Amino acid sequence: MDNDSEKIVGLDLGTTKVTCVAAIVNDLGGLEIIGVGNAPSHGMSQGIVYNMELTQESIVKAVAEAQRMAGCSLNNVYVGIAGAHIASSNSHGVIGVRDLENRVISEEDKKRALVAAETVNIPQGRVIIQSIPQAYKVDDVDGILDPLGMVGVRLEVRVHIITAAMNAYQNLTNCVNGANLNICDMILESIASAEAVMHPQEMDMGSVILDIGGGTTDIAIFCDGVIVHSAELAMGGDDITRELAVQLRTSIDSAEAFKVQFGCCLAELLESEQVVEVPSLGGAPQTFDCYDVVGIQEKKVSELLGLIANEIESSGYEKRISSVVVTGGSSQLPGLADLASQILAKPVRLGFPHLEGGLSSMVRDPRYSTAIGLIFQGLQKERDLSTPSREDRSQAGIWQRFRSIFRLV
Ligand SMILES: Nc1ncnc2c1ncn2[C@@H]1O[C@H](COP(=O)(O)OP(=O)(O)OP(=O)(O)O)[C@@H](O)[C@H]1O
Ligand SMILES: [Mg+2]
Repeated sequence: MDNDSEKIVGLDLGTTKVTCVAAIVNDLGGLEIIGVGNAPSHGMSQGIVYNMELTQESIVKAVAEAQRMAGCSLNNVYVGIAGAHIASSNSHGVIGVRDLENRVISEEDKKRALVAAETVNIPQGRVIIQSIPQAYKVDDVDGILDPLGMVGVRLEVRVHIITAAMNAYQNLTNCVNGANLNICDMILESIASAEAVMHPQEMDMGSVILDIGGGTTDIAIFCDGVIVHSAELAMGGDDITRELAVQLRTSIDSAEAFKVQFGCCLAELLESEQVVEVPSLGGAPQTFDCYDVVGIQEKKVSELLGLIANEIESSGYEKRISSVVVTGGSSQLPGLADLASQILAKPVRLGFPHLEGGLSSMVRDPRYSTAIGLIFQGLQKERDLSTPSREDRSQAGIWQRFRSIFRLV
């Protein structure tokens, strides 16, 4: 099988690892993972490329591994974008419906309304990555999800606009293209992760996704089924590792290995008083009181959760949020969900991407949430492209079916 149109590939360029996951839509209409590739991320951090050559090498390695597993070439990718250079805002656009005689709203009217919403003051040096319609208003009727075919004179759309720093965006694009890959689309990583791990009902009820990775924490708030706020914090699991390394006077590698194996950020979870052994910088063994070590992690995680709480509060949506879903590699730190629940004063659950069959068990890990979500988003976009007309649209529902079959319920 080497038909590109049958494959959907997600490429997650993280601070710690580059991940490539490829899937196909099988004969039964299900998504099937066919290839997974990982490479340590060198040359980029927090969504910014610092070394083009190293970044490109990491991409080539991850894609080559996924290609070997899939047994076919992977050329077209959906790329995740994140980092502190990303900004977002809500905007709205208004147009007059073009069909003056029948006043029926067309796809073209929807597009014109979207373009009008995008004509906001985008600061120089920034580029729009995504503009996501939240709801439409036709004349005086608000809260319409899809106005196609409705009758009206005035069409208004509210959108969530995500922009990136032009240079960061261009460097990322050049690295992916330089690895001989064609970018189908760039998608905000928190939106991708949300697609992979959140239930549609959570998005309707009002909830937050937190993707806590190595270098960044991606935040997105959903209400009434659509994204209403997104933000990026330049802090993640690597900051916990660094703090452990400094306080325990050990190397970053030893601190990371210790954190992944024995890490914990909530003293209540400790069963008995113990001491832990961590090698010193020179390699000699040294012991520490368990409570002290947990205290270091608790302090750092609390600091991050405090920033998250501020972001949620300043978004203006705090009161509408009924739950929080945490994913990304750092969500695996024991005690994090409980601590998050205490500090954010909301129910918190861990989010794992959930697919059935094939190689899916390989990606049932919160580090894969973004890559899997990119595939879901890619599938949705390809479906949208192949069903542009109203007639085609009515027979679709495929995307909804995929979601209900393959997402975590
Ligand atoms: N079992 C574990 N316990 C605690 N932390 C973990 C565990 N496994 C991985 N991590 C942490 O998860 C982080 C990496 O997560 P992830 O792979 O989601 O990041 P990334 O996508 O590479 O980076 P980013 O999204 O920030 O650019 C690292 O800081 C790592 O220490
Ligand atoms: Mg990530």
